[in-house]
Amino acid sequence: MGAGSNARAGKPPKRRKWINKPAAERIEVLGHRAFVGGTNAETWYGIGKRQYHWLISRGLRHDHRFLDIACGSLRLGQFLIPYLDTGCYFGLEPEPSLVEKGLQDELLFDLGTTKAPRFGHGYGFDFSFVDGYDFAIAQSLLTHLNVEDITRLMTNLRGVSEPGSRFYFTFFEGDGTRNPKGPSHANKSWHYRFAQLQEIAADTGWSLEYIGDWKHKRGQKMVLATPS
Ligand SMILES: C[S@@+](CC[C@H](N)C(=O)[O-])C[C@H]1O[C@@H](n2cnc3c(N)ncnc32)[C@H](O)[C@@H]1O
Repeated sequence: MGAGSNARAGKPPKRRKWINKPAAERIEVLGHRAFVGGTNAETWYGIGKRQYHWLISRGLRHDHRFLDIACGSLRLGQFLIPYLDTGCYFGLEPEPSLVEKGLQDELLFDLGTTKAPRFGHGYGFDFSFVDGYDFAIAQSLLTHLNVEDITRLMTNLRGVSEPGSRFYFTFFEGDGTRNPKGPSHANKSWHYRFAQLQEIAADTGWSLEYIGDWKHKRGQKMVLATPS
């Protein structure tokens, strides 16, 4: 079966058939949009536009250096890469096939080449491909991470942050009693209390500001993290 053909035909394959397969196989089954939660045009373009307008409303300028953590198949990048100055977009994504599909299918007129976005790959939150950043976002990433990986993310990101760096991230708010056990997983959901995230932040050198509702379709809450 071709990549994402089921999802495109409007018949999502049964979850139990793919949920425990490796990420690369899940991308094959779901397609590059549905894998990141863009199961229809409304969520694909809507959540991309929401992030884009959010960042501009918070002061992102075309000459800022921008880091998209878990950039997926460029749901945000399709808007930001054309907007930002050449060389100012950095994307971290462990699954290279998502970025390839984004560059090939979502960015038009060679902008994926001429705007020279830079990408890093891997699950270890290795930010060595980034010199520094003015703004960063992790949209729907902590929703898929266990505590160990959130701690690694915050620790490693702190290492490339500067006094003025602003890092926005989203999370599912809740007591976490039904969180999956075991490793982080891009298609399973974790919930956290804000106080829990604050503890991790304090231990890894961050101050958090709870923003909360930003009209996310799936109710994810927004937080601003700045180096402490
Ligand atoms: C729900 S998607 C969101 C993607 C993108 N931020 C968006 O808004 O479309 C979650 C993404 O997190 C990525 N991811 C999972 N584990 C990661 C890790 N350890 N480091 C970086 N990205 C990760 C997945 O591959 C997937 O692309």
